[in-house]
Amino acid sequence: MLPAVDEPMRVFVTREIPEVSLRRLAEGLPGARIDVHRGALPLGPRQLLAAARGASALVCTLSDRIDAALLEALAPPLRVVATFAVGHENIDLDAARRLGVRVANTPGVLTDATAEIAVALLLACARRVAEGDRTVRAGRFAGWSPLAHRGHAIYGSTVGIVGAGRIGFRVAATLHRGFDCRILVHSRSEQQGLDRQRAWRELGAQFVSLDRLLASADFVSLHCPLSPDTRHLIDAKALARMQPHAALVNTARGALVDEAALVEALRAGTIACAGLDVYEDEPRLAPGLAQLENAVLLPHIGSATHAARDAMGRLCADAVIAELSGRAAPNRLV
Ligand code: GLV
Repeated sequence: MLPAVDEPMRVFVTREIPEVSLRRLAEGLPGARIDVHRGALPLGPRQLLAAARGASALVCTLSDRIDAALLEALAPPLRVVATFAVGHENIDLDAARRLGVRVANTPGVLTDATAEIAVALLLACARRVAEGDRTVRAGRFAGWSPLAHRGHAIYGSTVGIVGAGRIGFRVAATLHRGFDCRILVHSRSEQQGLDRQRAWRELGAQFVSLDRLLASADFVSLHCPLSPDTRHLIDAKALARMQPHAALVNTARGALVDEAALVEALRAGTIACAGLDVYEDEPRLAPGLAQLENAVLLPHIGSATHAARDAMGRLCADAVIAELSGRAAPNRLV
């Protein structure tokens, strides 16, 4: 359905995003109608289809499923999808390409924020921070004890980074420079640019196989995209390769980890702790996970700083404005 000649161009935003991005959209597309779903929860597939009908641009989030059926129903007039995220496994890029719909994401601006949360989870796991907090709040703190609440030191430990992209690198650099950690890194993509390789070498990082990384690291932090190839990259077998004192941190995508197998491994003491910001079936958790003392659980807040979220919103607005004005979005994926 093409908009009638006198109908204003319409942008549909699937969640409330920082006001700065909406202002930028309005300034960059004078006369356009900008509709925002302001509900607390994401729209279901049917509601999304109904709400987005007739839009030339969609600003979506990682909770929206932008599949072939939706794209086929919306394009034309849909010309661009800007996702308020880096990860884009929820968007069918092949269908978008086929239908001539441009897709853009928001890389770079949330690197530091997400790396901070990975380091926070790693610290919380190593030093049992969340467990200690629960102990004090529950009135179970009976005074200083020589044996209670011992964890593992981060200083001088070996950290395994799975995924050699921006966020993985930032975590590695923080832990190497700040905590003298030895860095092992595993990357599935062979085409690491020379600059990137040099930067990793400056950290003294060693590129190793996933098996070797899992077997040698005291802390393993996941930073790779979710794809059919990486789904359940960390399954029961992978967990069994890790050391019993080791911790697993996941700030990337929940389905990289077989969450049921992780619950088993945490129960059995196969690994010591897990720090998770993401889950396989968000916002649901695998049965038993929430009851485990040795799991630190955050509500997917990797990019949740004011600065990062504002910057993500600006990038989405810029992508929509560029594509609707006949220019390529800076972070065009297809
Ligand atoms: C957040 O999880 C993102 O992919 O941006």
